[in-house]
Amino acid sequence: METNYKRTLVTTALPYANGPVHIGHLAGVYVPADIYARYLRLQGRDVTLVGGSDEHGVPITIKARNEGVTPQDIVDRYHKIIKDSFEELGISFDVYSRTTSDIHRATASEFFTRLHDRGEFVEKTSLQLYDEKANQFLADRYVTGECPHCHNPRAYGDQCEACGTSLNATDLINPKSAITGETPVLRETHHWFLPLDRWESKLREWILEGHKEWKTNVYGQCKSWLDLGLQPRAVTRDLEWGVPVPLKEAEGKVLYVWFDAPIGYISNTKEIYPDSWEKWWKDPETRIVNFIGKDNIVFHCIVFPAMLMAYGDNYQLPDNVPANEFLNLEGDKISTSRNWAVWLHEYLRDFPGKQDVLRYVLTANAPETKDNDFTWRDFQTRNNSELVAILGNFVNRVIVLTHKYFDGEVPAAGELADIDRALFDEIDSIKQSLTDNIETFHFREALKDAMNIARAGNKYLQETEPWKVAKTDMARVATILNTALQICADIAIAFEPFMPFMSRRLADTLHMGKLTWATLGERDIIKAGERVDSPELLFEKIDDEPINAQIERLARIKRENELKNFKPAEVQPATDFETFSKIDIRVGTVVNCEKVKKSKKLLRFLIDDGIGQRTILSGIAEHYQPEELIGRQVCFIANFPPRQMMGIDSEGMILSAMNADGSLSVITPSVNVVNGAQVK
Ligand code: MF3
Ligand code: ZN
Repeated sequence: METNYKRTLVTTALPYANGPVHIGHLAGVYVPADIYARYLRLQGRDVTLVGGSDEHGVPITIKARNEGVTPQDIVDRYHKIIKDSFEELGISFDVYSRTTSDIHRATASEFFTRLHDRGEFVEKTSLQLYDEKANQFLADRYVTGECPHCHNPRAYGDQCEACGTSLNATDLINPKSAITGETPVLRETHHWFLPLDRWESKLREWILEGHKEWKTNVYGQCKSWLDLGLQPRAVTRDLEWGVPVPLKEAEGKVLYVWFDAPIGYISNTKEIYPDSWEKWWKDPETRIVNFIGKDNIVFHCIVFPAMLMAYGDNYQLPDNVPANEFLNLEGDKISTSRNWAVWLHEYLRDFPGKQDVLRYVLTANAPETKDNDFTWRDFQTRNNSELVAILGNFVNRVIVLTHKYFDGEVPAAGELADIDRALFDEIDSIKQSLTDNIETFHFREALKDAMNIARAGNKYLQETEPWKVAKTDMARVATILNTALQICADIAIAFEPFMPFMSRRLADTLHMGKLTWATLGERDIIKAGERVDSPELLFEKIDDEPINAQIERLARIKRENELKNFKPAEVQPATDFETFSKIDIRVGTVVNCEKVKKSKKLLRFLIDDGIGQRTILSGIAEHYQPEELIGRQVCFIANFPPRQMMGIDSEGMILSAMNADGSLSVITPSVNVVNGAQVK
């Protein structure tokens, strides 16, 4: 770590206030940023953790329109949910504000004015799609139509998701407004652009030469953007919701949300430090670190730095931008619109008091170098076999033994044995690795290091067996437990950035007071003669029941989405009645039904067809229990020639309908009819 800086400003991407935050946001941005800020505080460094809600942008206006409320109503609602849930999760923001605050509007406005006055913009008039019914210009994302390349009928104006081509809305064939469904018209409009090309060589030098240490995913994305060549980017929009463009000739226009949002980092800093905010932004001895997700890289590494350079006045560029990849949920991409997410406020309601478990699991699975997956089974396993069985178990044993042999008082250590010294040495090297890993933003590895402290502690107890030694040598037991209690204190310190609630409870049990990183690994963090409170379990086992409930909730959402997205198949080419009437469809009653041995799919039916009984095999074993079909009437094709499957002759075919999720449902007449009745 370079140490020639005096303070660190840690920023977190401002989440859009058009929905609550979910585990993907947490794993990618807020948990790692909080780990980092807490660690720096334990190191005694001057640090400020800045956050806030991003309350502008088109999606908020659309949500408001759909609900018949104002955009302000939407952001008020979600800002509160987001802010409260972050606080409950222990994200230690020094400020969590919002981009609709007065101070932000004024700051963003002034920023634009200065760039404008310095001639840092270019102006252009162009044709854009306009929705005459909604009375507004359409952002590319809000136009859908046919892709000019692959002819996918549902391409978006910014991209075709079928062939991956990036598009302009004006390229689409037969465009439609996603807001009203109307066909948009072309209208002329005037906008201000930030000519990124002017900053290209400075950006190249700053990133490609100056920041080779950045994460490879971040460096690589920047390099490919820079290699493509930078273009001017519009920083204004025709919209009513946002920071008004502070120019007379720009009535009805607002700053583009990606112009004002990053300025939010500055406004929020101003909000907490009205008098001293400048040193956090303009002093070269300040180090700025931006925590973001991978979809934000270009804005933080290219666009915002260009804005800061254009502003001048010694604004500092970020020192590092440790962007993460994405977290998936049970194998599928997290999606707000499909409700495919674990929402933080719902987690806090469903698992009260288990903030640390979520923080732990999200860090252990952090998508640092590649996309990663969250599953509820993994969540349960990590809690039960890591937090309970390794960490909780170690701490509990040590504290119970301290009460058993020494009435809850820290015993004085005698001379250390080799095994004790070896343990302290091991903690030293773990501390080294843990420190390096946090400082280089490898939080997953860092968490493993911290866990290794508990593992080392368990092994130490296993090997020293104080409960046996107690029969012969209490002085030795005192040394062993003193040593083990120091390891408990190490755990309280090492885990503070990751699991602050557990850390505080443990520190209180051990009467540790304020924690500092410097004491981690010392041999007398807690002094002989100090009291240790009675043991309290740090973690409890999580049963199957709440986990199954979460899994079922997701399965239900998946089914609902499949129903919503169901597209009927194309209608078959024309046929005639004669062809239809050649197929003899009849009704019969299921006399018997059983699974076919060695087959996952087949059920064997015995059908009363009014003439006699016939055997029919049907591939619906995954959708029915055989018993539930016995006695029911079904429709079957009576004049197919017999066909052998799995060594059984099948005399016909049972008709079923396929639902959107692929499940099958047999066709039954709405009232009982006579067996052998024909379907016409
Ligand atoms: N709201 C944006 C998103 O969720 C992030 C904004 S980050 C900031 O993708 F820099 F603009 F604040
Ligand atoms: Zn396409």
